[in-house]
Amino acid sequence: MTGIQIVQSASAVPAHTVVNDELNAYMDTSDDWITTRTGIKQRHVSTGQTTSDLCTSVAQKLLQQAGWQAADLDFIIVATMSPDYLTPATAAIVQGRIGAKKAFAFDLNAACSGFIYGLKVAEGLLQVSGNRGMLIGGEVLSKLVDWHERSTAVLFGDGAAGVLLKNEPSQTSAFLATDLQTFGELSDRLTAGYQPVNSVFATDTTAAHQKYFEMDGRAVYKFATHEVPASIQRALQKAGPLVHGIDYFILHQANQRIIDQIAKRLDQPKDKFLTNVADFGNTSAASVPILLAEAIQAGVIKRGQTIVLSGFGGGLTVGTQVIKY
Ligand code: ACO
Repeated sequence: MTGIQIVQSASAVPAHTVVNDELNAYMDTSDDWITTRTGIKQRHVSTGQTTSDLCTSVAQKLLQQAGWQAADLDFIIVATMSPDYLTPATAAIVQGRIGAKKAFAFDLNAACSGFIYGLKVAEGLLQVSGNRGMLIGGEVLSKLVDWHERSTAVLFGDGAAGVLLKNEPSQTSAFLATDLQTFGELSDRLTAGYQPVNSVFATDTTAAHQKYFEMDGRAVYKFATHEVPASIQRALQKAGPLVHGIDYFILHQANQRIIDQIAKRLDQPKDKFLTNVADFGNTSAASVPILLAEAIQAGVIKRGQTIVLSGFGGGLTVGTQVIKY
């Protein structure tokens, strides 16, 4: 029998941090508003590093920590909504830079649920296509933010993190149960990067590029506080007797109020919900793995513990993965 294990985790974020008060220079906001509405105190912002730069740093750290060679990898997935290019995939750039010659590489976009969706895809690949995979969530959201638009600019940050996964002879798998849901009818509630049809054959060339985030914040808030608890409950029900108690919840770090509300709805103690949104803001597909890597490195998450990972965001999407670390 074989089982999938999480071998290593690592993160890489830009060194430059921007605290709430600094944003006043670009928009009418305050530390008090941002802190009370979101819990965010600062975010890491790239001064030049691209998504592939951050993801390559993560990939190098992961290989070094595990003592693996790049040539050992069978695949590389990067979950991102802020790739360097539409093509090539960010994962292909990373594959080339680290020299993972055997690995096929592709990006996956499920916005802030991207890392959770990526875990499910990686699990499937490990069962049919090799036994060593790398999954990274990486974002440079600062390039998708209008830095004069206070309703979105204060929320986002840049960063990347990931895991190495291995399928090996074992009685147990780290992957206990998954729940993924997409609500495409709500796709216009959170958008960025619209690219209109504007070729010489287009009949209407008036549509404009939409470079920056546009979000119905209240709709996303309502979605997250209802759909994340429902997704977690479905995943735990699927896991059934495999779960004898949850040690920690790692939710997408969008907003402290959302996390607190979800804890309340699930009737779980707040201290089981690890958070770092105060230091990183919302890093989309990178937020769950950044927090996971941080908690593992700090010794908070230990081998054998049961952890609920859950993300939500653009799509709108929601996803939960229950793991035994
Ligand atoms: N500073 C000061 N005032 C602000 C700011 C700001 N940064 N932003 C908005 N305001 C003002 C508004 O203009 C409004 O003023 P008005 O009443 O005079 O019109 C007032 O504050 C209230 O604005 P709301 O938008 O109603 O504030 P709300 O309490 O809903 O909080 C927030 C906004 C924080 C965005 C909240 O709705 C939220 O967290 N939503 C979820 C967003 C989210 O998680 N998105 C990410 C999804 S992940 C992904 O896929 C990328």
